[in-house]
Amino acid sequence: MDQLEQIKQAALKDLENLRDLATHELARVQHLGRGSKLSEFLRSLKDMTEDDRRKIGAAANDLRKEIEEKFTQAREKFSDATHSVRDWIDVTMPSRRPQRGHLHPLTIAQNTINNIFSAMGFRIIEGPEIETEFNNFDALNIPADHPARDMQDTFWLKKDERRRTKDEWPLLLRAHTSPMQIRFMQVHQPPFRIIVPGRVYRNEATDATHEFQFRQTEGLVVDRKGALGAPTLANLKGVLEYFFRQYFADPNVAVRFNASYFPFVEPGVEVLICGSKGKFAGKWIEVAGAGMVHQKVFEKVGYAHGEMQGFAFGMALERLVMLKHHIDDIRLFNESDLRFLKQFS
Ligand code: FA5
Repeated sequence: MDQLEQIKQAALKDLENLRDLATHELARVQHLGRGSKLSEFLRSLKDMTEDDRRKIGAAANDLRKEIEEKFTQAREKFSDATHSVRDWIDVTMPSRRPQRGHLHPLTIAQNTINNIFSAMGFRIIEGPEIETEFNNFDALNIPADHPARDMQDTFWLKKDERRRTKDEWPLLLRAHTSPMQIRFMQVHQPPFRIIVPGRVYRNEATDATHEFQFRQTEGLVVDRKGALGAPTLANLKGVLEYFFRQYFADPNVAVRFNASYFPFVEPGVEVLICGSKGKFAGKWIEVAGAGMVHQKVFEKVGYAHGEMQGFAFGMALERLVMLKHHIDDIRLFNESDLRFLKQFS
């Protein structure tokens, strides 16, 4: 009976010091396993007298049950603990952030451009991407035999689509934002300053610098001829110079005009810029077409010949963003590749 008491005390002592499931299992094997003192004791019962065996055997079996029960209880305590650790929630912890999207680099750039021109008093006007042949070509003094009207360059809409509208003119996807000059002037009287951001479409093969769908920002400033501050070619250069310096955050951007030809301006120029940083540092790069609005265009929208004076410009958004961020392939903008897009978040 003394031996049993010792076995019991040893087991109780270890039960008190259990820390986790691993120490629990070690102690359980030690006190109840085949090699334990208790098992050894139970095996030795057969060598006792029948009287002893009845008394001591009953006590030994009771002790085994008692110790087994205590280990079972202890185990429940531990498995409860591990369970609740897994499910435990600290409601004061910051939660996992949901993934947030961000604006497309071209949208970011367009917003910047709109803000710069807004600050100079320009209104931001948008127009339809499906245009009439009249607005896209005829009213802009682009003659019927101009190569730009060729099937190669313009996306024309099918005749049935044309029939659905009341327009007499063939329809097309606008090849530039200039047709919005016509729409705006038909219903507004100068003076005004507007920019027209928007998508344009050209039926041409794509490469690193050409897309069949890209974006332009048109500018148009008109006032009465002879009015104080009627827009001049010098004003055009000043406006563009201010704009490019703001957009590239580079006070050293210089603007140069090269003589060029667009049927809707006279004189017409090609706008080149050269800066001190970005991809065009120290290089002259062509970024826009511009000029003084042709009198024939004013006549097409109903202004009297010689009554108005104005300048217009049109620049491709992609080209500007590529210069600013050292992007060498225009096709990246439309590929939805997150590795590219995420750099602008
Ligand atoms: C025009 O579209 C004229 N409407 C611009 C203009 C407006 C001139 C007002 C005078 C007055 P152009 O076809 O050159 O011009 O196109 C303007 C700019 O678009 C070019 O300077 C060039 O940077 C860009 N561009 C032309 N084709 C593509 C293309 N396929 N992909 C990307 N950018 C292009």
